[in-house]
Amino acid sequence: MLKAQLQELRMDPKVIEKIVQELGDFTPDMAEKEGVPIHKQICDIWDTIFNFQARDGDIVVASYPKSGTTWMQEILDLIIQEGDIKKSMRAPGFVKVPFLEMGHTSLEVANAMPSPRIIKTHLPVQLMPPSFWEKDVKMVYVARNPKDCMVSYYYFCKMDVTMTDPGTWDNFFSMFMGGNVPWGNWFDHVIGWWKAKDQHNILYVFYEDMIEDARREIQKVMRFLGKDLSEDIVQKILHHTSFKSMKKNPMFNYSALSDTVFDQSVSTFMRKGTVGDWKNHFLESQNIIFDKEYEKRMKGSDLVFRTEL
Ligand code: A3P
Repeated sequence: MLKAQLQELRMDPKVIEKIVQELGDFTPDMAEKEGVPIHKQICDIWDTIFNFQARDGDIVVASYPKSGTTWMQEILDLIIQEGDIKKSMRAPGFVKVPFLEMGHTSLEVANAMPSPRIIKTHLPVQLMPPSFWEKDVKMVYVARNPKDCMVSYYYFCKMDVTMTDPGTWDNFFSMFMGGNVPWGNWFDHVIGWWKAKDQHNILYVFYEDMIEDARREIQKVMRFLGKDLSEDIVQKILHHTSFKSMKKNPMFNYSALSDTVFDQSVSTFMRKGTVGDWKNHFLESQNIIFDKEYEKRMKGSDLVFRTEL
């Protein structure tokens, strides 16, 4: 099915194989960039990533891992494709939306892609390649409350074989709190991008707002992109990007990645898609530790997260 679709839309199936291969070659080995823990393979090609040339008209979807990046990338693509699901299914999400820091193939795909490109990144704002600030680029940052984000990241680390084994939930709790996870400390990430939005063309969107009223948030993103689409198209976008639809869409749910990369028998990529699942995982003692740290780190900031709706 995948091959036929790609042929119809004139995309080379070999590109997928190359990207899957590149993702599969990742190992959990970590290194640091300016104090931020990142996969060693990313650090090894850092100069190439940092010198990436953004173009006028590029759209970036940026986030801390497990914040709703995939959801937003499909919304962005469907807005650009004006609700045409066939076009949005031209390739799996990880091919049509190159992952900036993932490797040479991702960068090659991005370089060869016609504008407007959608590019995904988990980089903290201070590590973004400078050309993104120099060109006329629109960025959508998706942020999710840290408790649900932590739970989602825990299951992700269990199923993504390129991640360090998180061990027990208790162990992962400590890793996350200490910022000892790929792409670093959650607080630094969300605060860094929150501050940057005052100087740059960044739309800051909350996962919880999307769950609460996806239509409202899609319209916000449309306005930001300067797109005026009919209610009929908005309804199509809403439908195709609902959790239920995305979970069964092979182009959106990462099933095109082999289980040697994402072992979805351990945990599915489209896992729960809710607000408040943290309550099923946090011990009372962990909640107290977390709330104290949250208060300390967010003091004086007007950035507010909702952990329940
Ligand atoms: P859970 O693990 O809590 O279910 P990312 O794309 O940044 O890796 O984020 C993945 C998280 O977003 C997962 O959270 C996933 O289920 C959720 N997600 C993806 N698409 C979604 C959708 N259409 N609606 C709600 N949640 C979605």
